[in-house]
Amino acid sequence: MTEPQGSAPLPSLAVIGIGTDIIECERIDQMIEKHGQTFLTRVYTTDEIAYCKQRKAANQHYAGRWAAKEAVLKALGTGWAHGIQWTDVEVVNQVGGKPEIVLSGVAEKISRDMGIAQMMISISHCKGYATAYATAVGEAPSPKGSAE
Ligand SMILES: CC(C)(COP(=O)(O)OP(=O)(O)OC[C@H]1O[C@@H](n2cnc3c(N)ncnc32)[C@H](O)[C@@H]1OP(=O)(O)O)[C@@H](O)C(=O)NCCC(=O)NCCS
Repeated sequence: MTEPQGSAPLPSLAVIGIGTDIIECERIDQMIEKHGQTFLTRVYTTDEIAYCKQRKAANQHYAGRWAAKEAVLKALGTGWAHGIQWTDVEVVNQVGGKPEIVLSGVAEKISRDMGIAQMMISISHCKGYATAYATAVGEAPSPKGSAE
């Protein structure tokens, strides 16, 4: 591949992990009904709750974030181990709606140790279901024997 003239070579990126999840939106309604605020604050950050609760179909947005968190855990390859908290994985929407993942706590440490530079996410939801797909990308290791 030819590099653009005058610019530094771009690092090659590698896919380090992928993960996907799907959830019935009704399950979120049931958990809110049963556990109320305790459920919400255990799973979602303050900003996520603020984002979801101001929307008409709040349960779909909560369900989308649930699926996103599970998908990220799959991309990390850890599951809910090592003391990872639900709130370690946060969905933040950019202007225009594009979601991004912000990691903190144990999830952030694991991600750093794995050499993950960015956790990409895509979320979709309708009345019945919410789904998300996560892709963890990082710098590709240099080929064995290549000069640094
Ligand atoms: C992005 C878009 C195609 C989503 O499609 P949809 O069928 O309506 O909804 P889906 O259920 O499939 O997806 C919803 C999710 O898409 C994601 N999304 C929203 N905007 C996005 C964007 N610009 N890029 C990538 N993902 C986006 C969000 O995560 C959203 O869920 P959330 O609000 O709970 O975080 C649609 O919202 C769109 O065309 N947006 C254009 C931008 C726009 O209208 N912005 C208005 C404010 S400037």
